[in-house]
Amino acid sequence: MSTDDALLLDQRAGKYTVQAMKDLQKQAVILVIDDDADLRYSLKRVLSSKEYRVLEAESGEVGLKVAAAEKPQVILLDNRMPGMTGIETLQHLRGEHPNAMIILMTAFGTTQTTIEAMKFGAFDYIMKPFDPKQIMGLTAAALAASSDLDKASASMGGDAGSQVSAEDLEGGIIGSSKPMQAVFKTIGQVAASDATVMITGESGTGKELIARAIHRNSLRSNKPYIAVNCAAIAENLIESELFGHEKGAFTGATQQHLGKFERCDGGTIFLDEIGDMALATQTKILRALQEGEIQRVGGSETIKVDVRMLAATNKPLEEMVEEKTFREDLYYRLNVVRVPLPALRERMEDVPSLVDFMLKRLARDSKAELKHISPEALAVLQAYDWPGNVRELENLIYRSAVMAQGEAILLKDLPEEVVEAAGLEPSEQAEEAGSVELRERGDALDAAYAQLRGETEVDLLHAAERAMIARALQETEGELGAAAAILGMTRPTLRKRIEQHSLNT
Ligand SMILES: Nc1ncnc2c1ncn2[C@@H]1O[C@H](COP(=O)(O)OP(=O)(O)OP(=O)(O)O)[C@@H](O)[C@H]1O
Ligand SMILES: [Mg+2]
Repeated sequence: MSTDDALLLDQRAGKYTVQAMKDLQKQAVILVIDDDADLRYSLKRVLSSKEYRVLEAESGEVGLKVAAAEKPQVILLDNRMPGMTGIETLQHLRGEHPNAMIILMTAFGTTQTTIEAMKFGAFDYIMKPFDPKQIMGLTAAALAASSDLDKASASMGGDAGSQVSAEDLEGGIIGSSKPMQAVFKTIGQVAASDATVMITGESGTGKELIARAIHRNSLRSNKPYIAVNCAAIAENLIESELFGHEKGAFTGATQQHLGKFERCDGGTIFLDEIGDMALATQTKILRALQEGEIQRVGGSETIKVDVRMLAATNKPLEEMVEEKTFREDLYYRLNVVRVPLPALRERMEDVPSLVDFMLKRLARDSKAELKHISPEALAVLQAYDWPGNVRELENLIYRSAVMAQGEAILLKDLPEEVVEAAGLEPSEQAEEAGSVELRERGDALDAAYAQLRGETEVDLLHAAERAMIARALQETEGELGAAAAILGMTRPTLRKRIEQHSLNT
């Protein structure tokens, strides 16, 4: 082992000894916690310098010990490790070393991990694989933040890290693309506060899902969450729905009725389609926001309510403010934190994992066999522009899964309009193997598939595809034409795939 190693880990005993180094004091200490020895090695190579001393630990457990002894300023923490997970380690580290900046390294950018990482006070997260420049930049930023914090807490004599207790995090939001990761990061940052959040985005982008996630990750998660669709309730009823009414307030009000605000006390109210709310109601909402109090319709008593408001709309509120159909003051009041959701076409790289998630959920809910999707069909879904966003994709997947007779959704199971709009022709229409058109198409699909190969879900897809091809070959006793037809692939494509997967025919 090299004498440069500041720390020699005796992995079996979980003990470590520290070797003397000349300028220990001057160097910033960076701790890399990862079970992957190669990654630790390369991070150490990249980061080690006169300024940085890099220590390693191969598990969360060892990492905690090293951190206790060495007080690192920056910790690079893997998420998936045997034993303690990164998130668990993160929670311990935050408790014990509030001024250390922790960067979580995730191989699979799951929603949960990102939200949790930010919630439990990570400085940032980075998705594997990353390039050296990225990690160097992030480490430098973390180090700067750490020394700022050191100075601040020295002057305050206090602990600057805030803690949120562990909460039940339910999944269901898919997105490892950059724009979605940014959304999760914001959620993690704002969930615990009582800030009003305005969620915007086209129809079907997941506004309601995000509103729920904010509530679930907030300190109010065990209090009521009530969603109100402002567009669906008749204008003359909405006030009574929201604020309640007294007996005799209007014809038909035969008894007192508690509104959603009162029933939601202590919890979160989600005002969906807020752009469709009448001006008169907007005024009352503003008052509830500003004063934290409401009045029942027909009542004179003011009632204190403690409600956090979330709002969503797919209307251009700014324009509505200009046209005076939306109150400017309410607009600013609601717009404290804005979460704009990307359209699905702006995050096409999430399509494979969304499809995978939807197929798994469908199999679970319908207690049916899990269906797969052929790479060709998936390539079409990644070339379509999704005006209806995730909702449209969800509907299409459910419909196609029902249409598909075999184990996989094939090109032929997709709606014609979608295939046409995506600019790829169904394979039956070009049956002649070896034709120029087919070869070109095969190449286009290969290119699309090569792109997919870079994505996180690739291993799954790859394995699923291999199994599908093997099964088709078995069923057709190695007859390529027939197998290609079953798979919704062209013969040349199939031949290539057989080679790639090292399958026997
Ligand atoms: N990131 C995502 N991961 C998984 N499912 C999603 C995601 N985003 C949206 N969905 C699903 O897509 C559908 C539409 O989402 P949602 O109802 O939240 O959209 P919305 O933005 O509120 O649309 P609208 O403006 O039409 O009300 C839901 O079934 C939801 O579960
Ligand atoms: Mg909605």
